[in-house]
Amino acid sequence: VMRRALRPEGDDIGGGRVVLRPLEPRDHTEWREVRLANRDWLEPWEPLPEPSAPDPARDPQAFRSRCAALARHRNLDSAYHFGLFVGRSFAGELSLQNVQRGASQSATVGYWVDRRHAGRGLVPEACVVAFAFAFDELRLHRLEVAIVPRNAPSRRVAEKLGLRAEGVAERFLQISGVWEDHVRYGFTVEEWVVRRSELWERFVTAPLQDG
Ligand SMILES: CC(C)(COP(=O)(O)OP(=O)(O)OC[C@H]1O[C@@H](n2cnc3c(N)ncnc32)[C@H](O)[C@@H]1OP(=O)(O)O)[C@@H](O)C(=O)NCCC(=O)NCCS
Repeated sequence: VMRRALRPEGDDIGGGRVVLRPLEPRDHTEWREVRLANRDWLEPWEPLPEPSAPDPARDPQAFRSRCAALARHRNLDSAYHFGLFVGRSFAGELSLQNVQRGASQSATVGYWVDRRHAGRGLVPEACVVAFAFAFDELRLHRLEVAIVPRNAPSRRVAEKLGLRAEGVAERFLQISGVWEDHVRYGFTVEEWVVRRSELWERFVTAPLQDG
């Protein structure tokens, strides 16, 4: 009942500097270039890949499988994964993971941007676009961002957006092979309805559609 009908062209959101849309097999060349150029920038903040899994940056078939798995999640309403595009260029990713319905109605937000685009406020813009989608279209109640305490740029994003630091979950997620503590930042629809215009005006460069 909470699910949207999702057609391939109907899945773009945003429309200012930042457009979010599901990745497709044709994005592989660009995705590979950005991923390979950003290994050292991203790997410290990511879980280790499964030892036997093929690398989607080097293997187009593995990238196609990844796109198909993400599309399945979307159709199952279990996760919504987007490429972050600036103009037509691929520049990062943003995802709503672990979508829980029932009493929880929640999801976890994850993001990264190409180092060559860092510091331009692209991720805060993408987050506000994703919040509008999560709260106004998916009708979720709560979003969470979990951040390793020493990841100062990411905590800065959460703080600029005014997300609430709810405390530190010890050994919460495996990052680069280590069970790292994470600060859990929460944000609920009650806060979104009060702040949506302010957040949109401050961070997004496209007009706000009535949701
Ligand atoms: C965290 C991250 C997503 C922020 O995205 P962004 O689009 O650069 O966000 P902003 O432009 O709002 O910058 C956030 C902060 O990063 C810092 N920053 C700015 N330029 C930077 C650069 N070139 N390199 C590193 N940090 C920079 C600043 O402290 C900035 O805060 P400010 O706006 O008060 O100056 C990005 O740094 C990234 O992808 N990092 C690697 C992956 C990662 O950590 N993902 C998140 C895991 S929870």
